[in-house]
Amino acid sequence: MKGIVLAGGAGTRLYPASIPISKILLPIYDKPMIYYPISTLMLAGIKEILIITNPDDVDNFKKLLGDGSQLGIKFEYAVQYEPRGIAEAFLIGEKFIGNDSVALILGDNVFHGHGFGTQLKRVVAHNDGATVFAYHVKNPKQFGVVEFDRHQKAISLEEKPNSPRSDYAVVGLYFYDNDVISYAKTLQPSARGELEITDLNNIYLLKDRLSVEILGRGFTWLDTGTFDTLLQAANFVQSAEMNKGEKIACIEEIAINEGYISKEELLKRLNPNLNNEYLEYVKLV
Ligand code: G1P
Repeated sequence: MKGIVLAGGAGTRLYPASIPISKILLPIYDKPMIYYPISTLMLAGIKEILIITNPDDVDNFKKLLGDGSQLGIKFEYAVQYEPRGIAEAFLIGEKFIGNDSVALILGDNVFHGHGFGTQLKRVVAHNDGATVFAYHVKNPKQFGVVEFDRHQKAISLEEKPNSPRSDYAVVGLYFYDNDVISYAKTLQPSARGELEITDLNNIYLLKDRLSVEILGRGFTWLDTGTFDTLLQAANFVQSAEMNKGEKIACIEEIAINEGYISKEELLKRLNPNLNNEYLEYVKLV
């Protein structure tokens, strides 16, 4: 399975911080925001990742992440010229996906919970059609919303509804079979001029090919698109890391633990003249 991080978007909600740099490169506590979605894909066992950015930001992403060989994985880059919607990722990424299945994650989504890597690997192994995740939220109007029947089977999906039929948001992490490319090609722009991920998921729902997994109470999902949620995420990460002495979304640690690269090889690639708390942690993994 291939992976895509959608790191485009104007970031207007984070103006003026997002004027000189993509919001996805802003830090959440001790690492750039994009480390979080990349870590999620790596935990799913995905080693080939396409990063889709705005035209102005692609060089900054390359400077940060390179070709991925320092982690034993592969990064490629593509550009989304206009914010034409999340589902456009499958048109931009068509060649990269090839005949494979694909996971898409939004650049500003943070996931953390015990056993998540195991859950993701199970989804990758068994996905037939599409798999998405639902999370209970206070403000469902701001998200894609999924409604369930009595047997917890998904029966409707709506994008930012005025009258949500449930309190379950569809989070920004999606797994698809290869049909996603042809389905994405049939989408028409919505009223806000975007190819909506919810319209794409509705195609799978109507064909009875959509699975929805609920991320339960012990799980943390944060969409970090506003000043408040950005700070909330930083506070969450700091608190979790200080208590446990273990980092969340340290992509170097994950690369070693997943066996993508040996510790020896990874350390060889780090600049020996640099030293800070983050690098000290990596050296001790
Ligand atoms: C997007 C999707 C929405 C989803 C959300 C998760 O919203 O359109 O369905 O629930 O991401 O972060 P947007 O970021 O475009 O407001």
